[in-house]
Amino acid sequence: MPQYTLTINNQEHQVDVAADTPILWVLRDHLKLVGTKYGCGIGQCGACTIHVNGSAVRSCSLPVSAVAGGSMQLTTIEGLSENADHPVQQAWLEVDVPQCGYCQAGQIMSAAALLKSNPNPNEEEIKTAMSGNLCRCGTYTRINKAIALAAQ
Ligand code: FES
Repeated sequence: MPQYTLTINNQEHQVDVAADTPILWVLRDHLKLVGTKYGCGIGQCGACTIHVNGSAVRSCSLPVSAVAGGSMQLTTIEGLSENADHPVQQAWLEVDVPQCGYCQAGQIMSAAALLKSNPNPNEEEIKTAMSGNLCRCGTYTRINKAIALAAQ
């Protein structure tokens, strides 16, 4: 199998996997970065969201061969901040967002990418940006409130 070099959370990793292996599998099964969650596996729920060069992407639908090499910086929830103190993570705690918590890593990664590209989004922009991240507990009101708080 080919060997790929990946830069994840500012660290280089080598993995031997098939070219079409989704990054989600590499993260969870090969590198034990299990903060990123498997939800649907078909790009529809957002649970597996990570950042590639700062943009939110679904790692279940991203083959390893597309992000290997030196120029792609991958960031997972484990690497979003030093001490879980990213403004979105702090707001998450303040608003007490999670219910079951399964979707929250993906939600937080999408929210962090939104605030990076649009530091002061209005309610509609938050809803639009987060519309691809599903929460089976339906905590959308608290999610949107936390993102607005983080933006302040
Ligand atoms: Fe990737 Fe659902 S697990 S979008």
